[in-house]
Amino acid sequence: MSTVAIFVLLAVTSCVSHAHYTKFPEGFIFGVATAAHQIEGAWNVSGKSENVWDHLTHTKPWMVADGTNGDIACDSYNRYMEDVEELTNLGVDFYRFSFSWARLLPTGRIDQINPEGVQYYHNLLDALAEKNIEPFVTLFHWDLPQSLQDLGGFANPIMVDYFRDYADFCFREYGDKIKSWITFNEPYEICEDAYGDIKKAPALNSHGVGNYLCSHNLLKAHAEAYHLYNETYRPKQNGRIMISINSIWYEPADPNDSELVALAEVANQFKFGWFAHPIFTEEGGYPAVMVENVAQNSRSEGLTKPRLEQFDDYWIERIKGTSDFLGINHYTTHLVTGPGLDPNAKSPSWWNDIGAITSLEVGEPTASTWFRVVPTGFANLLRWCKSSYNNPPIYITENGYSDRGTLEDYDRIKYFNDHLSAILHVINDDGVRVLGYTAWTLMDNFEWRAGFSERFGFYHVDITDPARPRTAKLSADYYKQLTANRELPQDERFKKPSERRY
Ligand SMILES: *[C@@H]1O[C@H](CO)[C@@H](O)[C@H](O)[C@H]1NC(C)=O
Ligand SMILES: *[C@@H]1O[C@H](CO)[C@@H](O)[C@H](O)[C@H]1NC(C)=O
Ligand SMILES: *[C@@H]1O[C@H](CO)[C@@H](O)[C@H](O)[C@H]1NC(C)=O
Repeated sequence: MSTVAIFVLLAVTSCVSHAHYTKFPEGFIFGVATAAHQIEGAWNVSGKSENVWDHLTHTKPWMVADGTNGDIACDSYNRYMEDVEELTNLGVDFYRFSFSWARLLPTGRIDQINPEGVQYYHNLLDALAEKNIEPFVTLFHWDLPQSLQDLGGFANPIMVDYFRDYADFCFREYGDKIKSWITFNEPYEICEDAYGDIKKAPALNSHGVGNYLCSHNLLKAHAEAYHLYNETYRPKQNGRIMISINSIWYEPADPNDSELVALAEVANQFKFGWFAHPIFTEEGGYPAVMVENVAQNSRSEGLTKPRLEQFDDYWIERIKGTSDFLGINHYTTHLVTGPGLDPNAKSPSWWNDIGAITSLEVGEPTASTWFRVVPTGFANLLRWCKSSYNNPPIYITENGYSDRGTLEDYDRIKYFNDHLSAILHVINDDGVRVLGYTAWTLMDNFEWRAGFSERFGFYHVDITDPARPRTAKLSADYYKQLTANRELPQDERFKKPSERRY
């Protein structure tokens, strides 16, 4: 081979391999996500009833950092055409948003259907169709009708029936327009943060008990909605249905310490495996280590049965395989530093059932205390999902960065770029089957107990102005360039001025 030929070959090879780590594969899709309660507002008009977040923010306003609530939020109930315009500008393939259960079915049951609420989502869906933006609809993104919470919410097994009925209504009413459904958003946050703690509404703080009652009913409700779709609706509507599970990815503080490595695995089983293991493994049911730890702790507490009930054979089979894709929401990584009981954890609790001490001393901080930037953790989570769940097809259904709302959001751009790059690496180097990416979030919105003090949006929203004006941040340009070229933008203007090469 001549020197020239070798040179050409090397040049081609390096060019190809470089493209591998910047260019997204054919068919990879990009979207952006929101949730009804965080953007819609219109909390008490047009037939909508009170949900758990309305209830919490109105009865205990001090529980929101800046005293705001979702009464108006981004006013998307009235301004959804602006949302669609922004989505069009971003050039996304799909828009992931959620239905407000209390807006569609004010009693939470199917005995009362609210025509104005039903029409609202038809209007939004039609506007998206006009712009060729595919809807990905989440049925439940944390805003349970308060009337169902008054019955115990997901701690009550009746929720399996109520959720199935609600899903049935949505599939029937909207299934011709929606081909991608997500049953639950982040079941961990629902069960642990809202039932086992006070971090999310309804803030029951039933630590070590309510959280496990919730997961049991929620997983059954998910499976029933899946089977209903699979058997009754899919043959006609031909769509797909999945669940979005959130991580905090746990890594051992010292990767050479085998005890910490084992403990980090326990933490990941408790966090991600709690909901993924019953659905995505051959074996089914909760992770064995979770069942064992809770049973052992329950015995030493003098209880007559474990706080975490096991699924019987019927339910193990019924829940297994009930997600066409693995939806992953990811933000950050924490370190496992040692065995023991966290001094801040309540007893009993999910935390004490893990029995690990963790630390956040890794990566750059963001505006959120729980959240630091660790792209390598994201890559490790994706590889772990491949090996733990038999290489499932994956959609990243949330990933994003919080700051205080600057328009020149270089740190957000860097976050997106590093996490998208991690995805390209695991696709190419490890064969992880990531098929699409959803950025959180379209615009700054009501960030739950942080109110508007932590902002994740591509668009800034001025909440002091009744017109809720939205202004594109620099990251909106970045995302627009990404979706247009299907490769990581190289433009120097997306880097901090101090980091530019020219
Ligand atoms: C709806 O709630 C707002 C507060 O967000 C209140 O000012 C208004 O009176 C309520 N409207 C109705 C119809 O209850
Ligand atoms: C782990 O061990 C390897 C090889 O023995 C060593 O190179 C590395 O520095 C160690 N890492 C840490 C964090 O101690
Ligand atoms: C979904 O329906 C198909 C066709 O009837 C069936 O083969 C498959 O087992 C069902 N999936 C689950 C998880 O039950």
